[in-house]
Amino acid sequence: MKNRLSKIIKPKDGRTVMLAVDHGYFMGPTTGLEQLDKMVLPLMPYADTLMLTRGALRNYIPPETDIPIVLRVSGGTSILNDELLHEGITVSMEDAVRLNVSGVAFSIMVGAKFERDTLLAFTEIVDEAESLGIPVIAVTAVGKDMVRDARYMALASRIAAELGAHIVKTYYVEGFEKVVESCPVPVVIAGGKKTDEMTALRTAHDAIQAGAVGVDMGRNIFQAKDPVAMIQAINMVVHENATPAEAFQSMIRDRSGRYSRR
Ligand code: 5RP
Repeated sequence: MKNRLSKIIKPKDGRTVMLAVDHGYFMGPTTGLEQLDKMVLPLMPYADTLMLTRGALRNYIPPETDIPIVLRVSGGTSILNDELLHEGITVSMEDAVRLNVSGVAFSIMVGAKFERDTLLAFTEIVDEAESLGIPVIAVTAVGKDMVRDARYMALASRIAAELGAHIVKTYYVEGFEKVVESCPVPVVIAGGKKTDEMTALRTAHDAIQAGAVGVDMGRNIFQAKDPVAMIQAINMVVHENATPAEAFQSMIRDRSGRYSRR
């Protein structure tokens, strides 16, 4: 378990840049990931782990690729369904082991009318993963009717940890320190919907300053104007304590096409 956790959260600084490209499991061919391999392979040198589905791993990522995999093992509903994120188990832990993953990710929906289903399915995964020494990342998904504030995120994150999550993935909100302080396991943030690059860098920075160990970011990287530059800038914020302005500056290319910092 500790060995696998150290592949996700880097022991050199206790931080992580997780690249999330699992969106297709409920959003289909998400903008930027239509040909997932073309987008993702150039980003991988700057990611500590790759979070994706079994089908994406099989179809797009060469087996020789040397990057720790966090496998999405929940799903079952699409963006076309009113009960979005009413998810169950989609991958057996036997297959997760066969795929040699460093961790698995499962979405829970605290506060939804079907929360019990997602929480109980989550604990089934935790039980099996524990016996195999595989870390489980709880994704505290937020329904469209739920208030995204520190009180809610702290509640969902703490429940996830109490039920056995090894890492919690949640959304950055004002007062994020409260979420981190009351969660006994490491916290990473999702990027959420695409915003401008500076805002995304600021969110990552503020989350780290509030105690998050890193990001598990997707759209704000692969839908950025320059995804390779963006993931490097995120890397600077997470692993080098760069300010958002320093990281943003690093994305500006000079006339020869080189970035200003490298
Ligand atoms: C949904 C997810 C996502 O599919 C994804 O990982 C989120 O990444 P981002 O919000 O940064 O695009 O976990 O709950």
